[in-house]
Amino acid sequence: MCGIIGFTGGRNAAGVLLDGLAELEYRGYDSAGISCFTRENGIDTVKTVGKVANLRACLPPGLTSSCGIGHTRWATHGGVSQTNAHPHTCGRVTLIHNGIIENYLALREELAQTGRTPVSQTDSEIAAMLIDSLYDGDARAAIRAAAARLEGAYAFCILFADQPGTIWCIRRGSPLVACHCEAGSIIASDMVALLRYSKDYFVLEENQIARLTPDGISLTGPDGMPAFPDYQTVTWDVSSAQKNGFKHYMEKEIHEQPEALSRTITPRILKYQENGSVFTLPDFSADCIPDSVFRDLTRIVITACGTAMHAGMMGKILFERLLRIPVTVDIASEFRYQDPILDKNTLVITVSQSGETADTLAALRLARSAGGRTLSIVNVKGSSIARESEHVFYTHAGPEIAVASTKAYTAQLAAFYLIAFRAAFACGRLSAAECSARAEGLLSMIPSIHRILEMKEITEKISRHLTRASDLFFIGRGMDYALSCEGSIKLKEISYIHSEAYAAGELKHGTLSLITADVPVIALATQHDVLSKMVSNIKEVRARGAFVILVTAADAVIEESQYDYRIDLPSMDDWFAPFAAAVILQLIAYHTSYLRGLDVDQPRNLAKSVTVE
Ligand code: M6R
Repeated sequence: MCGIIGFTGGRNAAGVLLDGLAELEYRGYDSAGISCFTRENGIDTVKTVGKVANLRACLPPGLTSSCGIGHTRWATHGGVSQTNAHPHTCGRVTLIHNGIIENYLALREELAQTGRTPVSQTDSEIAAMLIDSLYDGDARAAIRAAAARLEGAYAFCILFADQPGTIWCIRRGSPLVACHCEAGSIIASDMVALLRYSKDYFVLEENQIARLTPDGISLTGPDGMPAFPDYQTVTWDVSSAQKNGFKHYMEKEIHEQPEALSRTITPRILKYQENGSVFTLPDFSADCIPDSVFRDLTRIVITACGTAMHAGMMGKILFERLLRIPVTVDIASEFRYQDPILDKNTLVITVSQSGETADTLAALRLARSAGGRTLSIVNVKGSSIARESEHVFYTHAGPEIAVASTKAYTAQLAAFYLIAFRAAFACGRLSAAECSARAEGLLSMIPSIHRILEMKEITEKISRHLTRASDLFFIGRGMDYALSCEGSIKLKEISYIHSEAYAAGELKHGTLSLITADVPVIALATQHDVLSKMVSNIKEVRARGAFVILVTAADAVIEESQYDYRIDLPSMDDWFAPFAAAVILQLIAYHTSYLRGLDVDQPRNLAKSVTVE
């Protein structure tokens, strides 16, 4: 949550910061601000409520500076106001912060004794006060001493009024990436803000202190010794993080799914010859994930948040079917405060697009400390979860900017399918021929997504109907129930229509009382093994007057009187139907939000990357 950026170098800092904040806006967008060193005033700060576009409009036209910091906020402590917007200044210290300072109340009381009174309600201003109280001209020492007092998570970019042209940074638990390039030195919460200047970047390590000047970036480790950046190169270019002619990032990202799936799946399915037969098997040698990770397992625990957790629900079904061992799926914010019983025969799989979700990261740390094996499915390279996990399976979905996760979700599904197939093969649960057939099925699912993407007319028509609803239900069984959960979160987060996902057979145990003619039901019936049961459940809601939107297999025989709209999936093995059905639900959510005139990419109250508890 919150996007932060710092720049010092040979360009106009205000421009670099505003462009960077626009790229980082998906991380938070309730207020924004920048502080820049100027020749006239020392440090000039401009901040405003609302989006980065508002900030751009407020900047004095003549603001020239070669060094500054910028912030786009997702409020945690203190409401949305100009005073609570960052940067915050106390004495000689001006800072921006991403994270949460948990002991800020105690520190505030303590700092009051030194005559320092905050003007905002934020925890971040207290951090500025603390650093100022410890500063005697040695910035590194003040930051180190403050870090020792701060509890919680943070990434800070700090200007000291008596050090023009220099930015100081430290992080613990919140991300920061940086680069020195021809334009100067830049640091930000996410690589997307650096991309127009450099494809090479490094991740600031936890507790390292970075000092940025126009000439370079120097690092010191927690022991005070010099440290050296480990530069990496991004494989995608700046256009991947732009809209490329689509109205919204979400629409673009929905359409990118065939490529995202192909990048995630294809390189991991290799030809393999045995006794004159050729098999196509999932192979994770390039990921450095050995088969031993999957052998002798007695249990799998999947933990994640939101959409990533819904992908985990599909993973559970796949693992249980193929490996025949118990699998649990836990919401990471719950898992982290349980006292889980884990051992070396338990595989804990954490799933995260951003790789920075605070609860998922904490769940991973807990899993490691409790003795489980850990494997993470992550999209962002070099993110905290990727770096702290024993094994990483990268989804190659490319940058996902819209708050509503789409291509990252289907890429996570693909990861689970590949892992389940390989694990079953490694444990002797699938023969090479059986595993090969599954892998080929997965590959052949990808082209069908193109056909779904052509269903604009029908999905838009359905959405037009949904715009009038104030409540709706998604129902399904098995894989379709896992998918209902995802369809429901997608719709509600961007359309603001209340929706619930229900296991179709469970409705009659209470919730059926909510079904009326005004409550549309999206019924997923893509699985032939439970089709007749689903048909009965659809009849139950139909009998209560529900408006039914049916997503099903082309050959499913269901009386026309039982639905108002029917979408048939392209013919495919039921195992892979969730990919196609997921894209239909994404399109419905997208059109509904757009037709309601809402901010599709940046829905109210949310942010893309949830780096606070
Ligand atoms: O970055 P992560 O995958 O860890 O994020 C987890 C959730 O915050 C995320 O999936 C969220 O639920 C999405 N906005 C849903 O579209």
